[in-house]
Amino acid sequence: MGDIGVWLVFAHLLGACVWVGGHLVLALRILPAALRARDVGAIQRFEAAFEGLGLPAFALQVATGLWLALRLSPDPCAWLDLSDPLSRAILLKLGCLAASVALAAHARLRLIPDLRTETLPALAGHIRAITAVSVIFVLAGASIRAGGLGL
Ligand code: HEM
Repeated sequence: MGDIGVWLVFAHLLGACVWVGGHLVLALRILPAALRARDVGAIQRFEAAFEGLGLPAFALQVATGLWLALRLSPDPCAWLDLSDPLSRAILLKLGCLAASVALAAHARLRLIPDLRTETLPALAGHIRAITAVSVIFVLAGASIRAGGLGL
């Protein structure tokens, strides 16, 4: 892999650390404490602090990820070929991307502006789902070096 490829993987991994690490801290530490204390403030403070770092990290993931995918398989139409393990891994990543955008948009536009103790369980479901999707992103990414997703 040429020089730019090394920097792309480096940026992609750094963004993954921020995005996945932040969501794991939220889902496994801050959320359970907030649910026990019925305290929406803890989630709101975390979201406010994380947003400025997490969203640029996610944008970096999408940009570097698409670039890396185009380097590995230059014709995007070939990504639809489900018989190819590399295409399956790339498609899984694109599916995770669509799920993350839908979950984040719904949480940001609907749940967070009206966050109350009563609506906390709905947000908790979203947080767990987006965290699980972020871990699937890592699994799909790690599989690519090994040739892609085998069945
Ligand atoms: C938050 C979102 C994402 C996370 C956490 C993530 C995480 C990762 C990780 C941990 C790797 C393994 C790096 C390596 O061993 O080389 C990887 C590789 C990869 N990711 Fe992502 N990724 C994300 C989004 C995307 C997106 C949207 C795409 C676009 C299709 C993408 C495409 C790729 C490709 C093509 C590789 C293989 C790079 C290589 O080994 O050359 N990723 N990703």
